[in-house]
Amino acid sequence: MSTMTANTGADQVPDRFDPFELQDTVSGNIRDPYPRMHELRRQSPVHVGPVDLGDGATPADPDRPPPVTVFGFDEVVQVLRDNETFSSTVYEGVMGAVMGRTILQMDEPDHRVHRALVSPTFRSKVLQRWEEDLVQCVVNELIDGFADKGHVDLVQELTFNFPVQVIARILGLPRSDFPVFQRWAIAITSVAANWERGMAASEALRDYFAGILEERRQQPADDLISELVVAEVDGRQLTDEEIYSFLRLLLPAGVETTYRASGSLLYGLLTNPDQLRAVVADRELMTPAFEEVIRWEPPVTVILRRAARATELAGVPIEEGADIALLLGAANRDERKYAEPDRYNLFRESRQNVGFGFGIHVCLGMHLARMETRVAMNTLFDRLPDLHLDPAPDQDLHIHGMAFRSPISLPVAFTPA
Ligand code: HEM
Repeated sequence: MSTMTANTGADQVPDRFDPFELQDTVSGNIRDPYPRMHELRRQSPVHVGPVDLGDGATPADPDRPPPVTVFGFDEVVQVLRDNETFSSTVYEGVMGAVMGRTILQMDEPDHRVHRALVSPTFRSKVLQRWEEDLVQCVVNELIDGFADKGHVDLVQELTFNFPVQVIARILGLPRSDFPVFQRWAIAITSVAANWERGMAASEALRDYFAGILEERRQQPADDLISELVVAEVDGRQLTDEEIYSFLRLLLPAGVETTYRASGSLLYGLLTNPDQLRAVVADRELMTPAFEEVIRWEPPVTVILRRAARATELAGVPIEEGADIALLLGAANRDERKYAEPDRYNLFRESRQNVGFGFGIHVCLGMHLARMETRVAMNTLFDRLPDLHLDPAPDQDLHIHGMAFRSPISLPVAFTPA
């Protein structure tokens, strides 16, 4: 597989990929980490030393400064705002090995230059061109596969499948390669759980992209890879290795997160039928419905930083070199900021949250994630407006995971269309 190119991909695509094949290794096998997060935040918004969020505490490494975990909203924002004290080089280890050097792990001034090279494509105005011809088409095709059946599992048949097709098309990759592309994305995301599989996927992707890059150099097309080849800031262009690294970051970033967000959004709405009815009737509510799910069930619950110098946070001393886990999920449910934080409520007043991060590394793909989820949901509600949950009698529907969270299944019934 490691020598797969755009031209040979079709022959080697494995059978349909089961999204939950790798579930626990990717996301952490936890049902609900939030009660424990509340408990720890009430003790202190900042903890020094290992913490157990329900899947066991990782033992402290005696050769390293004690790790820090941040549970409070204001404290998370304070860390993300001060990118000089709290460095992103913490990602150099595992993420750097599997993806190469990406903007995620860079501090300023490098980060600014590299982000400027790749960011034009992700502006919301530029993304408009993908709305109808791409996202709506992909989603309509997926819905065609089950619209006449009257029931479906939306995770298996819709939410898991559309983001990979969207990002692959934006990159300009052949359709036949989507399943293998998804498999590589997940292998990269779960590299900490399975090193060999992650590194093999990383190499396979490099070879795969090398072929495509060469093709685009010869014959530019309307896609992101063609844009990256010619992108220039202050006379500086991206090297091939930098392009491969960025593409390897986009895969997990664009695939793992967005499918989870749309699954959790559907879960939030389907388990609150009054809010679902309100959104179906008034599509302007789709924006607050999405922002609220990014607060209530952020697909990525934790990001990392490293203390570049000794400092303190909320009065708690932090040693130079300490790794700092920022629990976005805990911050987004901080009861000092939100009333009834555990409730999905698209009508709440304060929707500001850190589900997309904050500061210089705030998610580059957030406009894309917003756009594709909005278009997907609107298309679904247009075609199947009376959609409602329809679990088997013994089926226990819930959102699952620790580092990454989303529902595992969303069985629904509707009037066949
Ligand atoms: C709902 C979906 C998404 C969520 C919840 C999400 C979440 C995040 C978060 C929390 C960060 C900050 C990481 C940090 O500071 O350590 C981030 C960064 C990033 N995201 Fe997303 N993301 C989503 C979708 C996407 C998509 C669709 C793409 C691109 C196709 C993308 C590309 C990136 C990139 C490139 C960065 C690194 C930015 C930088 O370091 O300057 N994300 N994302």
